[in-house]
Amino acid sequence: MTAPKYHLTSYGCQMNKLDSELVESKLRQLGYVAAPAEADADVVLLNTCSVRQHAEDRVWSKLGKLRIRKRTDPGLVVGVLGCMAQEHKRYLLARMPHVDLVVGPSAFGDIDRTVEQARRKNGELAAEREPARTKHEVQGAGVVQVDHGVSGDTIVRDVRVRPHRSQAFVSIMRGCNMPCTYCIVPTTRGEEISRPVADIVEEAQRLCDDGVTEITLLGQTVNAYGRDLPGKPTLALLLRALHEIPALRRLAFITSHPNFLGPDLITALAELPKVARYLHLPVQSGSNRVLKTMRRGYTVERYLARVEQLLAAAPDFELHSDFIVGYPGETEADFEESVALLRRVDFAQSYVFKYSPRPGTVAAELPDDVPEAEKERRNQVLLAAQEELTLRRNVAHVGQTVEVLVEGASKVAGRLSGRTVHHRLVHFASDDLELLGQHVPVRVTSALAHSCIGELQAHDAAGARCAGPVEVGEQ
Ligand code: SAH
Ligand code: SF4
Ligand code: F3S
Repeated sequence: MTAPKYHLTSYGCQMNKLDSELVESKLRQLGYVAAPAEADADVVLLNTCSVRQHAEDRVWSKLGKLRIRKRTDPGLVVGVLGCMAQEHKRYLLARMPHVDLVVGPSAFGDIDRTVEQARRKNGELAAEREPARTKHEVQGAGVVQVDHGVSGDTIVRDVRVRPHRSQAFVSIMRGCNMPCTYCIVPTTRGEEISRPVADIVEEAQRLCDDGVTEITLLGQTVNAYGRDLPGKPTLALLLRALHEIPALRRLAFITSHPNFLGPDLITALAELPKVARYLHLPVQSGSNRVLKTMRRGYTVERYLARVEQLLAAAPDFELHSDFIVGYPGETEADFEESVALLRRVDFAQSYVFKYSPRPGTVAAELPDDVPEAEKERRNQVLLAAQEELTLRRNVAHVGQTVEVLVEGASKVAGRLSGRTVHHRLVHFASDDLELLGQHVPVRVTSALAHSCIGELQAHDAAGARCAGPVEVGEQ
């Protein structure tokens, strides 16, 4: 019998992408192989996101297309994994009856068994049924696994299953206990659960033994790490422990919450040279009134004070942020305060999101009163302000030589791309794929809004590389 082929697409955040890697590792242990393209797959899995309506709409539309394919290919198994599975549960089947499995993020621990169960059930159904005459008649196995409590963190990770040779994500905590009024994540991901320090260090060590040199720790409020564990280990303590791994060269962590940026973490960031020199510290809004109604738990002044403390101790740090525009009741004056704060902090990078009401959240009860066109305008204005700041920083790098961890081939032929300790994207001319996964010196020669262009400098071949799977990522 030929091995079943799967195709898995991630629609969400880094945690969602890491979950996909863990799901893949489970399926591969079971003998499944990755399909070269979705059209070749026996099992099509969508690892979904609910954070904004747009993310969900992409999945609904994809599911509509798979329904048409399943009419002529009844053996096809269609699975919805992740946050939309958790959020919609059985409603998902009511809207998309051709779906064979619905698995929330807390049930990934036995995803292999669930997929097998759905395949078997769907196979039996396909054998018994008359072929569907219309797409509306297509029925799936409808296996639902949510609220199950066996998260991806219980999976013993196969460190060879990863998209990049020298970089890896490591989950250090799941869930979120914060009360942000607009956000669905606490619903889809549940309560905060931190992993023990020893488990994280062991996984990191195995990754580094397999050639990883850069690890990014993941958590929704990553700097609140450990408060639920015995002895309350902190992120600072964890960073210090990981720092001891000799083969590790760069250590980053996302996403931090302003309320948990305390003195011990700031000291660790200042003292540990392997820690990447950027902090993703979303502020969401520059208006105290909006921050209060969002229940973010800090004021602009408090945010600025924390940033000042960080920069006093570690002046080479750059700040990254997220902003939401068009939150219910956000006035033009509130919005102008966001623009002013963005400029004042001089963020190196920001994601800007148009507010999207999420059913069941506190904010969804408020009138979504900023018109779509106005949300769009504010989004563009804030993005343009950020671009100006990013470009200015990039231009300041022209003439400097920076260390780049080479990630993959650039979209432009004959160029490779990688990132600096500040997470700055740098492209340089080279077609030497041997450089993938190495840390190389590149002299920046010109700057664009979202990246820099540079020239590879002479270097010794001591950059670490691994023997793992080679996949050339598109930048
Ligand atoms: N835990 C992280 C990120 C959570 S989701 C944090 O707290 O920073 C990533 C980003 O999506 C958030 O920072 C926020 O800017 C945005 N976001 C969350 N819910 C949203 C919503 N309902 N509408 C628009 N943007 C949203
Ligand atoms: Fe959502 Fe707030 Fe938790 Fe971030 S901290 S995941 S924005 S609830
Ligand atoms: Fe989306 Fe879930 Fe991540 S809602 S942002 S995939 S935690």
